[in-house]
Amino acid sequence: MPIQWFPGHMTSARKKAAETMANIDVVIEVLDARLPEASSNPMIQELRSFRQRPCLKLLNKTDLADPAATRDWLAFFNAQKNVKAVAISAKKGGDVSRLPALCQALAPHRNDNFKPLRLMIMGIPNVGKSTLLNTLVKRRVAAVGDEPAVTKSQQSIALTPRLTLVDTPGLMWPKIEHDSDGFMLAVCHAIGRNAVIDEAVATFLAGILLARYPDSITTRYGLNAAGLDAPGVLEGVARKRGCIIKGRGGELDLEKAAMQFLTDFRDGALGRISLETPETRRVILAAGDVQQITAPA
Ligand code: G4P
Repeated sequence: MPIQWFPGHMTSARKKAAETMANIDVVIEVLDARLPEASSNPMIQELRSFRQRPCLKLLNKTDLADPAATRDWLAFFNAQKNVKAVAISAKKGGDVSRLPALCQALAPHRNDNFKPLRLMIMGIPNVGKSTLLNTLVKRRVAAVGDEPAVTKSQQSIALTPRLTLVDTPGLMWPKIEHDSDGFMLAVCHAIGRNAVIDEAVATFLAGILLARYPDSITTRYGLNAAGLDAPGVLEGVARKRGCIIKGRGGELDLEKAAMQFLTDFRDGALGRISLETPETRRVILAAGDVQQITAPA
């Protein structure tokens, strides 16, 4: 079943973002480094292109992503016109302190008290926009939460006399074109839980791990990945973690196992893992999508 999630308040958020875009110089687009293209909102690209605004793409949560995949993604994005891409962890002050200078280089004409550099932070829910903002301003001005769509309105902050920032709420788009993107977004909790079935999402994740990171399953759960299929991984996790439905003759609680498996992935307990690479993306686009539960090798 394809995953779609477009809560009502996002229609007005998109309208407001389009208005704000007219009055800023550089877009800071926050992506999840584990799924940089699947977490790219096509509406942001569309709004940016219309106003011809340059973009600093931040591959955030790089501490959770596979470093080799991140390197490939940086090369991929840095080949795009009007784009600079860097990998960061929004929680790290050192990573974030580099950003104003990178934005300035994208809009060199905005560099005095009369023409302050105006930045706009955009991205889908749960990629780390609020965390980034709090680290940038060095205090808590935005609510951080692992529940998608915590921030619901825009706020503008003067960082210095030469630098202003507009923070925007997480923006999804009305139709996720590739089913696998919906699953990747759900794995990383960018989509509200009411729109997904944890067991299906966890099975999708198991497929990717079997194809590209089988050792992560062995290391974490002591399962021999060879010979297992994706549902088999979930059953294995349920057995190893004692997820059993009481009074049902030992029946496995796969929903509980799915939650544990997803939480382990989201917390980085399975290691540094990227759900897609430029190469897996190319394969998906060439196949035209994708009712796939397992990822391409
Ligand atoms: P949003 O505004 O884009 O919706 O995202 P937000 O900043 O609320 O961050 C969503 C979750 O991602 C938070 O987790 C936050 O701590 C985490 N996060 C943000 N940036 C990074 C990063 O660079 N690395 C890692 N590992 N995590 C990051 P949470 O579980 O709600 O919060 P917490 O338990 O970490 O406080």
